[in-house]
Amino acid sequence: MEKSDFRILTLETTCDETAAAIVTSELKVLGSVVASQEELHRRFGGVVPELASRAHVERILPVITETLQKANLKLSDLDAVAVAITPGLAGSLLVGLMAAKSLAFALNIPLVAIDHLQAHIYACRMAAGKNVFPCVGLVVSGGHTSLYDCQSATQFELLGSTIDDAAGEAFDKVASMLGLSYPGGPSIQRASERGNADAYAFPRAFIRDTDTLNFSFSGLKTAVRYQLTGPGGADFSSLTIPEDKVADIAASFQAAVVDCVVAKSILGLQKTGHGRLCVGGGVAANAVLRKALAHEAEQGHWELITAPLSLCTDNAVMGAIAVEKLRDGVVESLDLDIRPGLIRKN
Ligand code: KG4
Ligand code: ZN
Repeated sequence: MEKSDFRILTLETTCDETAAAIVTSELKVLGSVVASQEELHRRFGGVVPELASRAHVERILPVITETLQKANLKLSDLDAVAVAITPGLAGSLLVGLMAAKSLAFALNIPLVAIDHLQAHIYACRMAAGKNVFPCVGLVVSGGHTSLYDCQSATQFELLGSTIDDAAGEAFDKVASMLGLSYPGGPSIQRASERGNADAYAFPRAFIRDTDTLNFSFSGLKTAVRYQLTGPGGADFSSLTIPEDKVADIAASFQAAVVDCVVAKSILGLQKTGHGRLCVGGGVAANAVLRKALAHEAEQGHWELITAPLSLCTDNAVMGAIAVEKLRDGVVESLDLDIRPGLIRKN
């Protein structure tokens, strides 16, 4: 794009947040709105894809309107529109993409595609107010737990990822077993404050295996289940778990996740030789994880950049990564499609 000073509307509808933001070429945020669907999915203990996409349809236009109002701009003031197209829930992604294509067509402005996982790391760039690349990027969210060698904002090489559940997914499922509310991460963090993290020795998959940067949380989840029900794994929905046991299990489970995430992050830094770790995604909001990483960064003399709490869970400000693409002239045609699945490393 030739114009040096531009304004981009960024849209985020990959999962259960409907979000929009307007950012400038100087990465200034003029307006940002996030409409969460937490209430809608709470009674199911997790995101129901069909409900999510229907809610996006209802919310996307009001969210865009409110974002424009916050920025004190009109649609005609926009120079480009960007949208997260991968990875995510197919129905949810489609709502954002259709809104973005309609605006690009109607306003005759460029359309930019956003990789949601790259955007989670770009939240660190937004927070740092300086270039953060190259770095090791850690995305810990409800759908993903992955480490990347990030050469630039848009050049990511996957170093390792979970082979089963994502860290946030494990938080959500364990919270549900413990009778704690959705989303599970904040509930477990709260419950853990009264618990003993050494009460239960839960498994830490691959932690001593320096050949892999992969994660696995399904065994940990099963270990929590057996702790509650005995090895038979009987139905736990009818169990009454004493409050102190909930707190101890929450704290011990959280410690196991944090230990694995911290260990593999350090290994990722060692293997790549990078001196900087950027952390994004919903689980990056976890206070125990943040503290553990900060401690290791201090001890190991590497730089830690963690997304601020407001930019950990899904938002459209992190979609400012579109500024980099637009500057490089990477724009899409109206044939652009969604890519719901994640490309995994074997
Ligand atoms: O990044 P995000 O909003 O959505 C995805 O892209 O997946 O992450 C949502 C996840 C949920 O699983 C939620 O339980 C988890 O982030 N989460 C947390 C915390 N806050 C949110 N996990 C642990 N501790 C937290 N404080
Ligand atoms: Zn996300």
